[in-house]
Amino acid sequence: MIKKGIILAGGMGTRMSPLTKAVNKQLLPIYDKPLIFYPLSILMLAKIKDILIIVNKGQLNQYKKLIPNGDNLGIKISYLEQESPKGLPDAFIIGEKFIGKKNVALILGDNFFYGQNLSKMLINCSKLNRGARVILHKVQKPELFGIAKVNNLKKITTIKEKPQKFFSDLAITGLYFFDNNVVKYAKKLKPSKRGELEITDLLKKYLSSKKLKAEQLGRGGAWLDTGSIEDFYKTTLFVSAIENRQGLKIACIEEIAFLNKWIKKKHIKKAIKFYGNCNYSSYLKKIIT
Ligand code: DAU
Repeated sequence: MIKKGIILAGGMGTRMSPLTKAVNKQLLPIYDKPLIFYPLSILMLAKIKDILIIVNKGQLNQYKKLIPNGDNLGIKISYLEQESPKGLPDAFIIGEKFIGKKNVALILGDNFFYGQNLSKMLINCSKLNRGARVILHKVQKPELFGIAKVNNLKKITTIKEKPQKFFSDLAITGLYFFDNNVVKYAKKLKPSKRGELEITDLLKKYLSSKKLKAEQLGRGGAWLDTGSIEDFYKTTLFVSAIENRQGLKIACIEEIAFLNKWIKKKHIKKAIKFYGNCNYSSYLKKIIT
């Protein structure tokens, strides 16, 4: 079982400067809420209640203003800082103490997931005892992502980070489930040519010992990696279309906590006070009336 999760929410966000000069990318809005709410909601949907958020050095206060701790969500949230963006596997080196002897999930702070059966798939993935599991999704530009090739038996055969030459269009999304070996493996990694520890190199360690499994987010699912301003607007349009059509919010973290029975009405009332008079609060009011 996976009961611990890490959100890697650092990075310089250089592609989005000047927006990211003073504010971390994951605090910028995707429609009506900060980006960080979306990956946080994914871990909560996977029923993970012990969460470490890794942020850039010097940006801790920005985050704590928004999510001081998990009390209002019935979960535990802790923070650690990353000195500089050394690569995704650095999360397991920074988080070594937090992870302890447990298994752990990692989600990148800029990843957005939505779709039917998503909660079911997440709960299923979090049942992992041994090995690692990744979620694949078809993309149009494989050269921008970590890519996996699968055989007829849906087993991963090859992995490459941002391949120059086409060999598959299945991207490895930024949500990973690992057994406790991940800490040991991460510590052994060497930086790649671009000077970063690569998540694909970490996954290869599991692949070579036949312990890497893949799930696919089907056609009904959406996965967006919000790396550029263009992506921010596309994701914002997606969220606003769905929310306005259905009258239901995506990634309302208090609603998820309430439905998971982690919090009571009084916590929602507290959240309404905390956020103040806004649309998000009106939605929270509807949940408890
Ligand atoms: O989104 C999925 C992709 O994420 C995967 O398919 C790739 O295999 C994986 O390498 C990664 O690629 P990106 O090029 O999108 O990673 P990026 O450097 O943009 O970082 C993703 C997020 O993680 C971003 O929100 C910043 C944060 N980050 C990144 C690094 C390298 C950190 O907090 N610390 C870091 O050291």
